[in-house]
Amino acid sequence: MEVDRIEVQAASGTYPVLVGQGLLARPGILDEWVGNEGVLAVTSRTVADLYLDRLTALAGGDPCESLVLPDGEEAKDIRHWQRILHRMTRLGLDRGCTLISLGGGCVGDVAGFAAACYHRGVDYVQIPTTLLAQVDSSVGGKTAINTQWGKNLVGAFHQPRAVICDTDVLDTLPDRELKAGLAEVVKYGAIADGEFLGWLEDNAGALLARDPACLRHAVRRSVEIKAAIVGEDEHDRSGRRAVLNFGHSFGHAIEHTAGYGRWLHGEAVAAGMCMAARLAVAEGKLQRREQRRLEALLALLGLPVNAGDLDAGDLKKAMLGDKKNAGGRIRLILPRGLGDAHLTGDFSMDALDIVLSGRSP
Ligand code: NAD
Ligand code: GLY
Repeated sequence: MEVDRIEVQAASGTYPVLVGQGLLARPGILDEWVGNEGVLAVTSRTVADLYLDRLTALAGGDPCESLVLPDGEEAKDIRHWQRILHRMTRLGLDRGCTLISLGGGCVGDVAGFAAACYHRGVDYVQIPTTLLAQVDSSVGGKTAINTQWGKNLVGAFHQPRAVICDTDVLDTLPDRELKAGLAEVVKYGAIADGEFLGWLEDNAGALLARDPACLRHAVRRSVEIKAAIVGEDEHDRSGRRAVLNFGHSFGHAIEHTAGYGRWLHGEAVAAGMCMAARLAVAEGKLQRREQRRLEALLALLGLPVNAGDLDAGDLKKAMLGDKKNAGGRIRLILPRGLGDAHLTGDFSMDALDIVLSGRSP
């Protein structure tokens, strides 16, 4: 079966993202990036039960050294980061070793951060198993753990050697996780490709039904868009990469205000994109019909389009702590039409308050 290969051309180096079906059943698929100098696979409970044996099969039947972390956000904790480093040390791994991350974005983020730190940086290969991880977190080299003060506050830029997206593993993903990943897919259309947004509208039902060809196209196009943006601004300095956070400032505020774990990240981003679009309409940057179109697509995909009954004051307080802010002013990614977005602090705080209160400005 065909494999798509998308190159991420980051300033620190170029690496491929492979997208296709059945990739984890292909002997030799990892050989180009995983040498003989020691390998540790990091995964999480659910994913280990489902897919760890495929890594063993890829390694010619030899069980691969592995470390199984808890599922979800719990894995992105300094204790688990330390466990990875302890295991690498006990195995006597040196700078030539490779870490493999097999799992969702949480496993990828903590394993990537361990790879960034062990011996000041060793190779790692991402094998993302959620839709969100395939289209977003595994690509671009952002690695992180959470602290008591907030999410992703400690981390590093460290690009993987390769990313292997086997879209077959999405078959076992719970529906809610699939939809959360689709929110990030819609994000790519909204920030960079209006035509792709039209394709998503036409194929929403097929995506929800996990049509293999549709899922594969959605992952490939999303990765192409992310790769191009990362290539322009690897370290998030010019404001270009920041557009990948469309909907995220509102989304993070929703996750924080509701209490982490109640909303999935992608669900909060979906509502956040709708709120950002309403603000853009109020600022005259987006047409009302474009905002309605974005909301209709997200609703069609079974995603939330507003923040429910969360308190506007609490949401605003959470937004004031966002990493994108500068000089005490909230900065947001706002759309300038569907298929284009930019980072800006130029909007009315009154309009923001109205959006946060759940009304339409
Ligand atoms: P996740 O890693 O928590 O995975 C979701 C759940 O799905 C977990 O319980 C996991 O065990 C399970 N799972 C994974 N693959 C499965 C499969 N194939 N079948 C059945 N179950 C499976 O969540 P996520 O949405 O993948 O990642 C969220 C994390 O990603 C957040 O911490 C977020 O901050 C981070 N993130 C990072 C970046 C980045 O650029 N580094 C970008 C976006 C998000
Ligand atoms: N997910 C945002 C980024 O990679 O920059």
